[in-house]
Amino acid sequence: MRLPRRAALGLLPLLLLLPPAPEAAKKPTPCHRCRGLVDKFNQGMVDTAKKNFGGGNTAWEEKTLSKYESSEIRLLEILEGLCESSDFECNQMLEAQEEHLEAWWLQLKSEYPDLFEWFCVKTLKVCCSPGTYGPDCLARGHSEAQEPVACSTQAIHRQPCRPRKSVSPNTHSKPSGSSCQGGSQRPCSGNGHCSGDGSRQGDGSCRCHMGYQGPLCTDCMDGYFSSLRNETHSICTACDESCKTCSGLTNRDCGECEVGWVLDEGACVDVDECAAEPPPCSAAQFCKNANGSYTCEECDSSCVGCTGEGPGNCKECISGYAREHGQCADVDECSLAEKTCVRKNENCYNTPGSYVCVCPDGFEETEDACVPPAEAEATEGESPTQLPSREDL
Ligand SMILES: *[C@@H]1O[C@H](CO)[C@@H](O)[C@H](O)[C@H]1NC(C)=O
Ligand SMILES: *[C@@H]1O[C@H](CO)[C@@H](O)[C@H](O)[C@H]1NC(C)=O
Repeated sequence: MRLPRRAALGLLPLLLLLPPAPEAAKKPTPCHRCRGLVDKFNQGMVDTAKKNFGGGNTAWEEKTLSKYESSEIRLLEILEGLCESSDFECNQMLEAQEEHLEAWWLQLKSEYPDLFEWFCVKTLKVCCSPGTYGPDCLARGHSEAQEPVACSTQAIHRQPCRPRKSVSPNTHSKPSGSSCQGGSQRPCSGNGHCSGDGSRQGDGSCRCHMGYQGPLCTDCMDGYFSSLRNETHSICTACDESCKTCSGLTNRDCGECEVGWVLDEGACVDVDECAAEPPPCSAAQFCKNANGSYTCEECDSSCVGCTGEGPGNCKECISGYAREHGQCADVDECSLAEKTCVRKNENCYNTPGSYVCVCPDGFEETEDACVPPAEAEATEGESPTQLPSREDL
């Protein structure tokens, strides 16, 4: 660790924390890096606070201790713990900035006890104080920030804002106009994120959490109701799923029912879309009701129309299938009492929904019989040994 002998107080040019990084997309921002360094520095101060403290209280020991407290030796120990030796960027940043840190340590610590404020905000100007934002840690225009702004009610997303005259009771903007919407203590009323908060980026507008809307995130979105509202706090709570708007938690507190629910005896209840006439699904589908909606699903392949899932809910069976134990099942045409394949010696093969009649291998096919090879040349006649057996596929 190299420490300069002289600290050139206040005369140092402001050094950039980061070398220009073309692939900066995923890199921590300069403010993040600075904050990380300060956090480690503060940890280093904690870690070294008890050092050389022998437990004695002689004048000599107290003098030694107080000397150590603000000594360069202690600073050196703190600096040595700031970066892992393998962390190139941390070490690079530290080398560039250690004169600042030494100046603060030796000269400015009592005047500016908050190292983050002094180092990251005031000196390097890479961060803003919490609750402020933007390149100068100021709102775009002071007058605009002093007044609450009217925003579109599109909720959730960042809202384009225009100055508005009326003053909302939830405004905490500092007169200086340097803070996030809703003030630096609880930006966005605690119900949203202030764009650029604490950094040199953003515009200070609010991105509200789910359920909240308005420039200060104090209004409730549709589907939420205000369960608490006083001068400083606004809490929005989700309605029952059956309500589009509501004033309380249950389906009896709906102002308006959500699509798919209807008002019935003071409560929003699910509509059974499947009971509608004409039915909402096609003839080859069945309807499944759900809370607030429904789905159409394909009938089993053995059905002609159905009332539900599987071969047991067919209205009718497709040709070649017949109801068996309540389910549409393939008919084995080959085992019917009435012979299916009528030519002599012919084999019958069952197939799903149908059957085929074929002569055995080597048999000659004629109009009304399968002729065995031995007999093919001889005159046709009975051949009791050649009775083919029925086979199923
Ligand atoms: C507003 O409500 C919050 C949350 O319950 C409470 O902490 C706060 O003290 C209340 N403020 C006033 C002014 O009543
Ligand atoms: C509808 O929601 C209730 C609970 O709110 C649940 O008990 C019921 O099973 C749901 N019905 C359907 C069809 O999803």
